[in-house]
Amino acid sequence: MTPSDVKATLSFSDGSASMDLPIYKGTVGPDVIDIRKLYAQTGKFTYDPGFLSTASCNSNITYIDGDKGELLYRGYPIEQLATNCDFLETCHLLLYGELPDLAKKTAFVKLVTNHTMVNEQMQFFLRGFRRDAHPMAVMTGLVGGLSAFYHDSTDINNPQHREIAAIRLIAKMPTLVAMSYKYSIGQPFIYPRNDLGYTANFMHMMFATPCETYETNDVLVRAMDRIFILHADHEQNASTSTVRLCGSSGTNPFAAIAAGVACLWGPAHGGANEAALNMLEDIQRNGGIEKIGEFIKNVKDKNSTVKLMGFGHRVYKNYDPRAKLMRETCYEVLNALGLQDDPLFKLAMALEKIALEDEYFVSRKLYPNVDFYSGIVQRAIGIPVSLFTAIFALARTVGWIAQLNEMIGDPEYKIGRPRQLFVGSTSRDVLPIGQR
Ligand code: SDX
Repeated sequence: MTPSDVKATLSFSDGSASMDLPIYKGTVGPDVIDIRKLYAQTGKFTYDPGFLSTASCNSNITYIDGDKGELLYRGYPIEQLATNCDFLETCHLLLYGELPDLAKKTAFVKLVTNHTMVNEQMQFFLRGFRRDAHPMAVMTGLVGGLSAFYHDSTDINNPQHREIAAIRLIAKMPTLVAMSYKYSIGQPFIYPRNDLGYTANFMHMMFATPCETYETNDVLVRAMDRIFILHADHEQNASTSTVRLCGSSGTNPFAAIAAGVACLWGPAHGGANEAALNMLEDIQRNGGIEKIGEFIKNVKDKNSTVKLMGFGHRVYKNYDPRAKLMRETCYEVLNALGLQDDPLFKLAMALEKIALEDEYFVSRKLYPNVDFYSGIVQRAIGIPVSLFTAIFALARTVGWIAQLNEMIGDPEYKIGRPRQLFVGSTSRDVLPIGQR
């Protein structure tokens, strides 16, 4: 952080003493006003529910320019990573700060590959769930349960423990997601295969059965790998902030990531891809493209709670660059599968066109986000809708663990403990029950 020459001066109209607050500059993006001494010097808190104007940390992992619709992982534009790299190269970049050369990539792939199996006891966690349990309920349990098996890597303040926990989480998430899927359809679990690449192995564990091998389709593997890359990290979003706050207590990395999985489940966050696809299927069922006008009218109605799922973003006030790449992937996958006339894709493009021309969305800068098209791609690949957010969690695990390790590696970090504006009852006496 670079101290700015400019200071912020806070003054009060009641004659209280004013105070100068230092301003820091990043390498790019908004400056920050350092308010860490505000309470000690003024007895006042700042107030920012939802953190619309609050930077919770300094980070050198991911940068988003919401106005330009720009997303950089360690300085590399997402468009270049999604086109020139694979997911494990992106994991190496997010974890260690640099793209690997061939030797480093080979070693990293081997390391991850050797941790893809989970303890055989994990299957008994699954057997406790109903077969129709939501995969995110299962994943929250399974990821938290990992901490019961790895006592050798749960000291988050030990850099070696942090690294092996990161590798284990990246390596085991595909296995756990595939296990939750197989359990839900009553098929036996498929073990990982170390002769397959990371994403091909995931699709093998998802779609192979003991009766027949699964022949991977390169276009679908590439599309899945791109989905992983696009979802890998996204600065201080709700689930990443949850992982940081949870990890700041010193809990083990598996528990902190399980908290991120739980937060991602929400429909306003990672659950939006499942909600967006369900929304498209509802519109399709109720008349399709002809009914879009009626649906949009409902979304704009102040009294309705209907939202255009997959649209809008707290940071992007322009097109989410990931949505553009996801729409391209849609074309590639649907063409490869001979589904170019997929009615849902046509409906999504018609909905996008209408929304992008409608004053309600234009005035609120509501553009398609990553979740708008990802569901259509995953559905075409054969992923069930209920598994979409678990796939998002699989991909985001590397971002969560990179952000957690960055925080723990910062000697200045403290346990997170926000304060509040109290508006409840002041002190009052308890009356005997007969007098209440
Ligand atoms: C992800 O933070 C991240 O980085 C998240 C993520 C990541 O990679 O980690 O990018 C992943 O979560 C993407 C977002 C997925 N969520 C959805 O698609 C759900 C639908 N979107 C909305 O719920 C909403 O847009 C949010 C939650 C994403 C953002 O909400 P904000 O920033 O708090 O904005 P807001 O709710 O204050 O909305 C501003 C206005 C409001 O209208 P007015 O009160 O001004 O009249 O826009 C309206 C909102 O009602 N609005 C929408 C809308 N999104 C916002 N109206 C209709 N449909 C929508 N989708």
